[in-house]
Amino acid sequence: MLRHVVTVRDFTPSFLDSVFRSAAASKRQHAGRGRRARVRWSPHWNALRDHVMISLFYEASTRTRHSFEAAMARLGGKVITTENAAEFSSAIKGETLEDSIRIESGYGDVIVLRHKETGAAARAAAVSDVPVINAGDGDGEHPTQALLDLFTIAERFPGRRDLRVTFVGDLLKGRTVHSLAYLAAMLEGTPAGFAGKVNFVAPEIMQIPQPVEGLVRESGLSVALHDGLSPSLVADSDVIYMTRTQSERHDVAAGGDSYALTESLASALHDDAIVLHPLPRNRELPEAIDRLPQARYFEQARNGLFVRMAVLLWVFGELAPPTAAPGGVREERAYA
Ligand code: NCD
Repeated sequence: MLRHVVTVRDFTPSFLDSVFRSAAASKRQHAGRGRRARVRWSPHWNALRDHVMISLFYEASTRTRHSFEAAMARLGGKVITTENAAEFSSAIKGETLEDSIRIESGYGDVIVLRHKETGAAARAAAVSDVPVINAGDGDGEHPTQALLDLFTIAERFPGRRDLRVTFVGDLLKGRTVHSLAYLAAMLEGTPAGFAGKVNFVAPEIMQIPQPVEGLVRESGLSVALHDGLSPSLVADSDVIYMTRTQSERHDVAAGGDSYALTESLASALHDDAIVLHPLPRNRELPEAIDRLPQARYFEQARNGLFVRMAVLLWVFGELAPPTAAPGGVREERAYA
């Protein structure tokens, strides 16, 4: 069976465990002394030398595309890329996504796909002969971003299962929020659970979609909705997850300043809290915040490389120990 990565709903605690162990090992190795460690970024540094990754991006990207491509390169694999598939692939000549995937899956061993339509990755996986990794589908999901977000959280708060996680910004269209919020819900009650309380902070027109909120509530997590950040909410958060307004996905201009983490609000952060942002940022996260010890978003972006190396190893069955069969967290929960 092909190992697609389309939605966080397929992730199991043992999958997360394997990915995070591998990512941590790569990160440790890279931080190790000596040129050899720095060049060989992973204990698996040449494991994918016979594989070709195709990155097919119909939407703009800096971090996701290049961290995937660097990950593949660091594992000895090869990369074929199109960073503007909307314009420079046959999509412009009217080719369907399905046809493009049928063709590309004859050339590469894995396809990393970013597309503006929600559900595009699932459509691609349905027709592909090789694994498809969802690198963001419209306002749907961004599962590997959620992995690196959670890795960054677990690095800072190892073993904590009661974190107060506050999502701020465009929660309606922000796919990274959807994936991480789903993960919080799915993992609740398992050894991999991390959240105790989830706050959704957004102007009304950008609040979290009901299906996502519903799932988080059903999981038993405590949930609160707010229309703005306040010093007390900042003080009562362990993780503040900022996001920009997804202006390309709104018909009307949706103001992004109304929920900024200003310096004065940030002064309410407790010492151990962390501020995350999937980036790119706009005015919601002023550069003045960068010098605070709680600012972890550049480290978060860097972790993307180690986590995506682990995801690629998993896709090709190179990650030990073997992960549970797809069937989801719910199935494993019985054994938790
Ligand atoms: C995010 C995305 O593409 O959804 N970026 C990323 O991958 N780090 C967030 C965004 O574009 O706002």
